[in-house]
Formats: sequence, structure tokens, C-alpha cells
Amino acid sequence: MSINMVAAHAKWPEENDAIFGLAAKAKEAIDKYGKENVIDSTLGALVDDDGNLICLDTVYNELKSLPNAAIAAYAQVAGQADFLEAVQDACFKEYKPNAYIKAVATPGGTGAVRHAIWNYTNPGDSILVCDWFWAPYVTISEEFGRKVTNYEFFNDNGEFNIDSYKEKFEELVRKQKRIVSILNTPANNPTGYSLSDEEWDKVLDIAKESAKDPENRIILMVDVAYIDYAGVGSERRKFFAKFSNLPENIFVIIGYSMSKGYTMYGMRSGAAIGISSKEEITNEFYYTCMHANRANWSNGTRGAMSVMTNISKDPAKKQAYEDEVNRYKVMLRNRANAFVEGAKECGLEILPYRDGFFVSIPCENSKKASDELIKENLFVVSLKKGLRFAVCAVSEDKCRMAPAKIKAVLDSLK
Ligand SMILES: Cc1ncc(COP(=O)(O)O)c(C=O)c1O
Repeated sequence: MSINMVAAHAKWPEENDAIFGLAAKAKEAIDKYGKENVIDSTLGALVDDDGNLICLDTVYNELKSLPNAAIAAYAQVAGQADFLEAVQDACFKEYKPNAYIKAVATPGGTGAVRHAIWNYTNPGDSILVCDWFWAPYVTISEEFGRKVTNYEFFNDNGEFNIDSYKEKFEELVRKQKRIVSILNTPANNPTGYSLSDEEWDKVLDIAKESAKDPENRIILMVDVAYIDYAGVGSERRKFFAKFSNLPENIFVIIGYSMSKGYTMYGMRSGAAIGISSKEEITNEFYYTCMHANRANWSNGTRGAMSVMTNISKDPAKKQAYEDEVNRYKVMLRNRANAFVEGAKECGLEILPYRDGFFVSIPCENSKKASDELIKENLFVVSLKKGLRFAVCAVSEDKCRMAPAKIKAVLDSLK
């Protein structure tokens, strides 16, 4: 008879990460059939047209120029002071809210999501997340004895479903007197949707209405993991300025990641950035997150912090970095445009794409569809409500061809 050694709360199904598993299958197919015959749209990382991971030269030249000791040494528990300034500049650019703001370094955006969920909800509470979501929101919530409530991301017109958001938001606030609402925008994973500035106003109106009850605690967790590939210039950062002068029982936490914008996925760096109209609330956030850092991973990756700080301080390095990211932003847009046009041409229904690494295709029985597409050497991730195609990982030519292949398979399953 088998026995469990782990405690009951830590016992989870013995399963491997589905996306990494599919990526391994795609790799096998490439070895067998050749890369020109396989479309691998599994992983959320920028890949060039030859299938190689893109690693920004401006970032890695800077990392490799650091003295060994600057990479090897421990960082401060909250993060190096100059990094905590630099990360705010990198995140907000010219749209820094007029508010009290404090940042804490985390190992990627994941750490910031973790801190928001653990530190701002009570055991058994539900986190509010849309129904097209990044799976680790659920993993993290489960790990901490929290649940997830979904609202419908889109209405029948393909717009942000503000009515569904309002209904679920108010339901949770009534029940819990506090809410952590995670909004992964701009460049949502998995849909590529970005809330418009008008949609942001509506979200904030709902938060402000609930905040009229001084007992309520409203926390907006804005996951901007893909912001550096969104919009033209800083246009997709304008909404940050709306976090100025909010009621004091609305607290905003930004989850900033260096994984995508700096192509430092494995270097594990980012920040949780707290925004409030009251200084004591951002101070509380800072010391709470510092404690949580110490308790979980002690401190962050010092070399990654130095890369951002050094690029931020030197105007020439900063310009070179921005030019390099921008080139890839254009590449990504061309690929996404090719996919969207290909979908239009063959009549494949997709969700509204605005920015970022992914496009989503709503469908029934997505697992079956993904399995059938594997037979065509097209690898897409199946989600509860559809398929996710990673334009970040596929050349423009293949992005144009893929929709017709997907449409044919979906039609054959009807
Ligand atoms: C929606 C979303 N949020 C956050 C992250 C955080 O990633 P990291 O912890 O590598 O910064 C990711 C990465 O895949 C993501 O897709």
C-alpha cells in the first residue's frame, strides 16, 4: 500500500507542466521532420524566425560586463535601492501616478502575484480573475488555500465585459469585504487583449463605488508582464496616471517582470510596485513584502537588478536598449498582423488581439483540437475555452499559414 509523506495541504496531482510537455513534443517533431515543416507555437518566449531564443544584446553585454562580485553578492532583501528607482522608471515611463509609490524586488512577475495573493487576502477568499487567464494564478491561489472566481472577459461584441466584471467584483466584496482583482493588461496572456483607457475608467468607477464603504479593502493587482511589447511608444502606459489620488481603501499593486522586456526569463527578476494616496499604506506594503521576500526566497537576483539599473542610468545604453526592444516589438506586430489577416481570410474566429505574445482561438473541445493539430505538426496550447497560439515563437510566414490549418481541424471536429 502506498503512503503519503507530504502533509495533506501540500498534496497535489502528480502532473508535469502541460506547456513544457507540449514544447518537448514539438522539439521531437522538429528533429524528426525538420523545422520548416513544424509550427511550434507553445512557449511564451520571443523566438527568431530560425527558432532560436532571442536574447537582447544590450542586456547580455551589460550583464557580462559586470564584475563577478556584482553578480555573486547577495542583494538587499527588498532589492537594491537604485534598482527600486530604476524599475519604477522602466514601468511607468512618463505616466507615473501622482501618489505614494514603493517597489520591492521579486523573482519575476510571479513573485509579485504571489505577494498580492498571500498578503492581501484571507484564508478561503476568492481572487477575481477573468475566464481567459494565466494558469499560475490558480496554482498560486491553491497553494495558499485561496480560490479563484472568474468573470467573462468578453461580451458578445468582443469588448471587455464590464457587466460581468462588475457583477463578480461586487459579489466578492459583499462576501469578503476585501478583494484582490487581477488584471493582466496590456497584452493579456493568452488573448493579446489590452484594456482601453475608457475601459480602465469603468473598472476604476466600480472600484471607487465599492470604496465608498470605508470597511471595504479594494486591491487591484495589475500584471503588466508583457507591457514592453504593447502599443506604440508609451501609449499603453497612459492608464498608470489614473492611479493618482485614489480613495485610500483602493490599493494598486503592479507586477512588473524583466522576463520578457529584458529577455531575462531564467534570471528571475521583477518587482511588486505598490501605489496609494496614503504613505502609511505603501510603507505597510513595503515592509510586508520585505518580510515575505525573506520568508520565501530571501532576496532577488543581483546581476539582473544591476543590468536594469545600469541601462536606466546611462542615456546611450538606454537608447540602444529601447531601439533593440522596439525592433522586436515591430517583428511581433508583423507576425500578429499576419495571423489576424490569415484568420480573417479563412474565416477563423479569434478573440480581439491588441498587443503581445499570444492570440487565442475560442473553441469547444480544445484538447482534442490540439491533439489533432499535433498530427499536422502544428503545436498550440489547449486552454479551457480554446487554443493559444504564441505569435512570439513563430515566423511571420508560418503565422499567416497557421489559421487555415487550425480552421480546417476545427471544422473537421464539428
Ligand atoms: C500573465 C503572466 N504574468 C506573469 C508572468 C510572470 O513571469 P515571470 O515570473 O517570469 O516574470 C507571466 C510569464 O509567463 C505571464 O504570462
